[in-house]
Amino acid sequence: MKIILEPRAMQGLADEVRSRAGRIAFVPTMGFLHEGHLSLMREGKKRADTLVVSIFVNPTQFGPQEDLDAYPRDFDRDESLMREVGVDVVFYPTDKDMYPKGYQTYLTVEEVTRNLCGKSRPTHFRGVATVVTKLFHIIKPHVALFGSKDFQQLVVIRRMVEDLNMDIEIVGCPIVREPDGLAMSSRNKYLSEDDRKEALAIKEALDRARELYRNGERDARALVEEAHRILDLHPGIRIDYVSLCDAGTLSDIETIRAESVMAIAAFVGKTRLIDNCVFLAPDEEAI
Ligand code: PAF
Repeated sequence: MKIILEPRAMQGLADEVRSRAGRIAFVPTMGFLHEGHLSLMREGKKRADTLVVSIFVNPTQFGPQEDLDAYPRDFDRDESLMREVGVDVVFYPTDKDMYPKGYQTYLTVEEVTRNLCGKSRPTHFRGVATVVTKLFHIIKPHVALFGSKDFQQLVVIRRMVEDLNMDIEIVGCPIVREPDGLAMSSRNKYLSEDDRKEALAIKEALDRARELYRNGERDARALVEEAHRILDLHPGIRIDYVSLCDAGTLSDIETIRAESVMAIAAFVGKTRLIDNCVFLAPDEEAI
């Protein structure tokens, strides 16, 4: 496994792989890897002969009051996990290499960034779109893999790739959960034992909404209210949003007609967690 620190060196390696008609799969991460990341890497290995993983805690996607400095980091642990999975190349740049002095170029994706997390984190997706574009230019992947827990991020990246004619296949992979149902996240590390129990209400609310949907409920407000009711039973949870949106445009809907997503963001203690559940279009959903 090669560890590359500099963008130029990474670009050279990507050129070399491409010149021998090799295929590059790419998994972008902010490190502190968990099974969700590893599942993306295993999928990436099936889809290409060279698997590149980036580890970079991207400062531009954190707001001023957010957890950039506290974000968990453990490169040694990440390194051994990546070796076990069989990662070929780790791209591990510094902040200075990614955003050198004088840096001033940012990428904005419009409508799909306005709802959900975009409301409470107004600069987040600008940072994500910018860094992912930079990483795409540096790593030159044929295929890039993203987890569906960050559902809005996946929609934003797909939109950006299509709008900017980037010749990269974007693969969304299923949410990986702990045995009790909590969606895996590097931020779960912040949860105390009590927080951890409270956090399970998020999955409970999503499961209940799915159950109502499967029983024929199509009124979005009824599902959102039921999810609120469940979350409100837990004093340790502060809801940021519960939304039911069209899965493609991410605009709120009143009635579920097409593929839709219920997305929840909530603070458990100081930790902001997100999770979601996709409802297929009514005629596609297997009941
Ligand atoms: O999902 C993440 O970990 C980050 O948003 C990403 C895609 C690595 C960009 O920094």
